[in-house]
Amino acid sequence: MAVFNLYFASCALLLILSWRTSTGLPVPSLSTEKCEECSSLFKSLQLDIKGLLNSSVCHGIPTADMEMTSTAETVQACAPALTQNPGCNAPRSSSFSESECLRNIMKDLAHYTAVIESYRNSTIRDPEGEAALLNTTLGIIHSLRKNCSLMPDGGNDTSKEDLAHTWGNDSFSNRQKMCKMMRAFHVRTITFNRAMGYISSGDHRK
Ligand SMILES: *[C@@H]1O[C@H](CO)[C@@H](O)[C@H](O)[C@H]1NC(C)=O
Ligand SMILES: *[C@@H]1O[C@H](CO)[C@@H](O)[C@H](O)[C@H]1NC(C)=O
Ligand SMILES: *[C@@H]1O[C@H](CO)[C@@H](O)[C@H](O)[C@H]1NC(C)=O
Ligand SMILES: *[C@@H]1O[C@H](CO)[C@@H](O)[C@H](O)[C@H]1NC(C)=O
Ligand SMILES: *[C@@H]1O[C@H](CO)[C@@H](O)[C@H](O)[C@H]1NC(C)=O
Ligand SMILES: *[C@@H]1O[C@H](CO)[C@@H](O)[C@H](O)[C@H]1NC(C)=O
Repeated sequence: MAVFNLYFASCALLLILSWRTSTGLPVPSLSTEKCEECSSLFKSLQLDIKGLLNSSVCHGIPTADMEMTSTAETVQACAPALTQNPGCNAPRSSSFSESECLRNIMKDLAHYTAVIESYRNSTIRDPEGEAALLNTTLGIIHSLRKNCSLMPDGGNDTSKEDLAHTWGNDSFSNRQKMCKMMRAFHVRTITFNRAMGYISSGDHRK
């Protein structure tokens, strides 16, 4: 009888716990496992883009030249929630949405996929060498879009950007433009990794 009661009691407890988790956490988020996998993929991406900047793609292009072409609002969407600070009445929203942050990151990744694919298709000086490097980058981005989006299909951007018009038929100007865009992409990858660090810490769920 005592065993029976105990069974009953723990069952009720379990029910309460599962009810709490199912209603208390309705927000989509990466599982711990995915979070680790994705954090390491994002680190690989940052290293890979850094390597790209040190490759023939940027050879001879002044390092100050940078051009941000993605319209995703990743920096704002992935800013950590502001901690309560009674001293100043911060006018900004202090909430952090993991799904909103990841949605913007996926938008960046879709944009840079289009940039890289169209550049690879344009007039370039060293098609073999540059394509090999860029294919590696595309592979990492593909894994990220496939495995790290909260939406099925990496958010499946229906309006795929056509960037063919970005490129002319002069390989130097193309490369110069590409290098500037990749420098901005590198800065974005730093933002991605900061965001993943924040998401992994779980601070936004406290
Ligand atoms: C840049 O590339 C050169 C030659 O491939 C390499 O020796 C150097 O360590 C690289 N620098 C960085 C910062 O990765
Ligand atoms: C690459 O070029 C081919 C032929 O010009 C074209 O059909 C294809 O759509 C291009 N792909 C991209 C991603 O621009
Ligand atoms: C890069 O990938 C494209 C498309 O998948 C392929 O056609 C091309 O041969 C690859 N280039 C290199 C150098 O791996
Ligand atoms: C992510 O997706 C790719 C398919 O693009 C798959 O091959 C890979 O095993 C998955 N995981 C990681 C960590 O890349
Ligand atoms: C996006 O998803 C829809 C259905 O969800 C599908 O019909 C469409 O082909 C997909 N587009 C791309 C570019 O994958
Ligand atoms: C390529 O450049 C040449 C001259 O540099 C120009 O006459 C030609 O129209 C250009 N072709 C295209 C497709 O832009």
